[in-house]
Amino acid sequence: MADVSDNAKSAVPHHVAIIMDGNGRWAAARGLPRVEGHRRGVDALRRTIRSAGEMGVKIITVFSFSSENWSRPAAEIGELMGLLRRFIRNDLAELHKSGVRVRIIGERAGLEADIGRLLVEAEELTKDNTGLTLVVAFNYGARQEIARAAQRMAEDVAQGKLKPEDITIDTLGGFLDAPDLPDPDLVIRTSGEQRLSNFLLWQSAYSELVFVPVHWPDFDRAVLEGAIREYQQRERRFGGLTAKTAQAGS
Ligand code: FPP
Repeated sequence: MADVSDNAKSAVPHHVAIIMDGNGRWAAARGLPRVEGHRRGVDALRRTIRSAGEMGVKIITVFSFSSENWSRPAAEIGELMGLLRRFIRNDLAELHKSGVRVRIIGERAGLEADIGRLLVEAEELTKDNTGLTLVVAFNYGARQEIARAAQRMAEDVAQGKLKPEDITIDTLGGFLDAPDLPDPDLVIRTSGEQRLSNFLLWQSAYSELVFVPVHWPDFDRAVLEGAIREYQQRERRFGGLTAKTAQAGS
């Protein structure tokens, strides 16, 4: 099979965002507790960071805990928090050594204090790294992110720093959690579900969406390559026309 980087039609996506779905179903299919699916999900995440970096992807954003996940049983929430703690404690040094820059998006208020500190530590330690950027969406919901941005923008208006008539798409975009990062080119969702579930709604306006049937714990380099190949077959028009379409219509 041709290497994805050999495909002349389009380049490897700069920014890939992933909805890591299906951990619970993966575990249930094996008669295992749901937490086992999440644990194996962390292994899949490690594999994916490595493969994405090797394939030339520059940014990967992963949906690791949504604002809506608080409605899960307390024990599962506790396990997911524990996995994040362990991931940062065990993997941060290695990520740093490999040049990965860690960024976190999502609401920090309301998180346990030690988790808040770990998130700051991960960002601080890796802030000057120039390799792959790993964006962890934690306690993240896109509508909540947009509402927080609108709140901060309204504060600037109230203080006279910003005029309502000067507000543009770029102004609002500048108040989002990671305004300096480019939008995802490709959003992948595993486990066969075909929806965005409140993930990067603003940023994915022109992203290509690829849905793969495998559950997240089974995600590997071959599945990532397949999704990238599918992306490379798409024609991105951003609301305009391709040269071919324009010619046909003239
Ligand atoms: C969706 O599967 C997955 C999650 C809600 C959590 C994703 C978390 C990880 C992969 C591990 C933690 C990540 C880090 C960064 C430490 P689901 O439980 O909704 O699966 P289901 O739809 O089959 O029930």
